[in-house]
Amino acid sequence: MGWKNDPSLGKVVIDEKQLNERVQQLAAQISIDYSGKSVLLIGVLKGAIMFISDLARAITVPVEFDFMAVSSYGSSTKTSGVVRIIKDLDADLSGKHVLIVEDIVDSGLTLSYLMRNLSQRGPASLGVVALLVKVGIQYAPLDLKYVGFEIPPEFVVGYGLDVSERYRNLPYIAEYIGSEE
Ligand code: IMP
Repeated sequence: MGWKNDPSLGKVVIDEKQLNERVQQLAAQISIDYSGKSVLLIGVLKGAIMFISDLARAITVPVEFDFMAVSSYGSSTKTSGVVRIIKDLDADLSGKHVLIVEDIVDSGLTLSYLMRNLSQRGPASLGVVALLVKVGIQYAPLDLKYVGFEIPPEFVVGYGLDVSERYRNLPYIAEYIGSEE
């Protein structure tokens, strides 16, 4: 069964061409802003995997990777705001220019927790690149240095984003209209 016939997938929110073009633009801006420096990209597992890999390949300054896995308690399509570190970083952040690479900002609670946590580890700078931001529902204003797209506050899947581990390999972002919560 192809993606097009999947009844749980609603409309395409961002297609492959839009994704690719925006990722290239973000990478170009990052390459300018960090020119003469190297940047440590911290991918937030698992949702950011596609994004970090495409982004890193288009950045022209030296890049290092590290990964963190966090989990929010609660059901799979809602965030509760309680964040737990499942996998911590391998590397020390002191003196590094760190960019958190996040798939999607919904309530913003995951990101605000991560920023608080990582800023205490002595990075030279700390920024965020978020592929998607749901409009108007962040609890606290976040300083998002780079944003790919603002999208309406509906549940989406694809390009790394899942519902119960499915649809991460969908090559574009689509609305999820299935019944699984
Ligand atoms: P926040 O803490 O509410 O900002 O939630 C952020 C995390 O919830 C993201 O890193 C995703 O893992 C997950 N999430 C939020 N919205 C969606 C969505 O529409 N599709 C898939 N995952 C989502």
